[in-house]
Amino acid sequence: MGVIGAGNIATAILRGLVSQGVVSAANVWCSSPSGPRRPIVELGVRTTRDNAEVAKNADVLIFAVKPYILSSACDSVKGALKPSTLVVSVSAGISIAQTSTMLGAPGGGTPWRIIRVMPNTPASVGLGASAMCLGPFATPGDSELVSRLFQAVGTVDVVAEAMMDGARGAAHTPPRGPPRTGSLGSRTSHTPPRPPPSSQASRACPAPGPLTCACSSRRLQTAALLRASPARLP
Ligand SMILES: NC(=O)c1ccc[n+]([C@@H]2O[C@H](COP(=O)([O-])OP(=O)(O)OC[C@H]3O[C@@H](n4cnc5c(N)ncnc54)[C@H](OP(=O)(O)O)[C@@H]3O)[C@@H](O)[C@H]2O)c1
Repeated sequence: MGVIGAGNIATAILRGLVSQGVVSAANVWCSSPSGPRRPIVELGVRTTRDNAEVAKNADVLIFAVKPYILSSACDSVKGALKPSTLVVSVSAGISIAQTSTMLGAPGGGTPWRIIRVMPNTPASVGLGASAMCLGPFATPGDSELVSRLFQAVGTVDVVAEAMMDGARGAAHTPPRGPPRTGSLGSRTSHTPPRPPPSSQASRACPAPGPLTCACSSRRLQTAALLRASPARLP
């Protein structure tokens, strides 16, 4: 797999993946123009300043750059990115359609398979809550794969793309709870945020509007959690 960008979120994701053995460091390429920072280098992944080198070696390519950089980062991998590569973007506020346009026409006329993920800051300590949405050509297998990757830094829930901006607004919320141990698949929590203490009926999700029933549906739970967390890190 490859990661374009070697900053905070790239480091958090790769640290989780490598430390949990989800991927082998030797199979990961990571790039940034000034050279990956020390924490990434210490993970033992392959590093370069050349985005195209990362793209050509990737079956899964994660864009972990600032939103205003994404267009030029996409330009830099054109011609190197394989049409079969699954593209993942964590760049806040950039839609899947925009990302697809930035990537341009894939070779062979195959549309890009794109998944957008919005982790939050506690992902850096494995306590994240990531919202994820699928592009129109992403497959169920792609969804499963990316879920497993981001479960290395916390919990993951699939949401509609329209809800990603809510996740973005809460990307710097505190951790949602203590880390879980055991298999990756067991790390998805179904604990509602700050449940009222009394009856079962009062355990409805505190999020307003269409998210009210989120506690009975994991698909919406992350977005409900993110919207329901008022506190922010300093
Ligand atoms: N940090 C979080 O908790 C968090 C949570 C959710 C989403 N995100 C999203 O993740 C993205 C990255 O955030 P961040 O906090 O990781 O930022 P960051 O620490 O500033 O890292 C950005 C990285 O992008 C690299 N870069 C800049 N231009 C590039 C280019 N043309 N090609 C390849 N790499 C390039 C930088 O390399 P140089 O140092 O060499 O310039 C740096 O390694 C943002 O879009 C943000 O919205 C972050």
